[in-house]
Amino acid sequence: MRATAFGIDIGGSGIKGAPVDLESGELTTERIRFATPSPSTPKAVAKTVAQLLAEFGSDIDGLPIGITIPCIVLHGVTKLSANLDPKWIDCQAADLLSSTVGRTVHLLNDGDAAGIAEVYYGAAKGQDGLVIMTTLGTGIGSAILYNGVLVPNTELGHLEIDGFDAEKRAAASIKTIEDLSWKAYIKRVQRYYETLEMLFSPDLFVVGGGISRDSDKFLPFLKLRAPIVPAHLRNQAGIVGAAWHAHQLDQSGRAD
Ligand code: BGC
Repeated sequence: MRATAFGIDIGGSGIKGAPVDLESGELTTERIRFATPSPSTPKAVAKTVAQLLAEFGSDIDGLPIGITIPCIVLHGVTKLSANLDPKWIDCQAADLLSSTVGRTVHLLNDGDAAGIAEVYYGAAKGQDGLVIMTTLGTGIGSAILYNGVLVPNTELGHLEIDGFDAEKRAAASIKTIEDLSWKAYIKRVQRYYETLEMLFSPDLFVVGGGISRDSDKFLPFLKLRAPIVPAHLRNQAGIVGAAWHAHQLDQSGRAD
């Protein structure tokens, strides 16, 4: 039987989940989406996650479950939470989610999940050396993988550049909030990626988040040494990366 795991992506506006075929990296059924509760407290979000899993019924019995969240995740405890309710800070999140849904779940940062998905199934598949994945959305998510091995919780969206938190200048949401033209946004994004390149010398940058649908409007104009390419998995990267992560942990018997 082909290895399958269940991935859930918790975001600021939606909570999405689906089973994933881990050979192809494709969803085996349509994903289901619920709105993220407001306020997005751990208890309220955990209830929504339980509801989402219930929608799939016994079809997903026994599958490992991985969940992404836009927070630092240290051994199942969520730390920094820039875009979710502050109650997530220092929350025993993996325990809370596991007890609410009645099954063990594995938790990881959303940028990390997207990076895993792109390296194993997407734009960085087969790429040796250092890959930096960034997601330009409400904030900036990041993942660093070296020869396929993730360095978790890098939080490169919060680099301070020219006195600003980088995601407050270059996230996709800022383009909308400040009504920036593409030309003005490209300047911001150039400054961000040239700083990352100076610090890390990656072999490849991958750019995800909703705005990567319009990648032709900004990526070709960036002046960098490393190639910079749009993500392939688009809005499924979180689900796929979460499922892969859960499967790996289940197989290896390692703890979160
Ligand atoms: C959070 C990260 C998250 C990113 C994308 C940032 O504000 O600090 O943990 O990966 O947003 O959601």
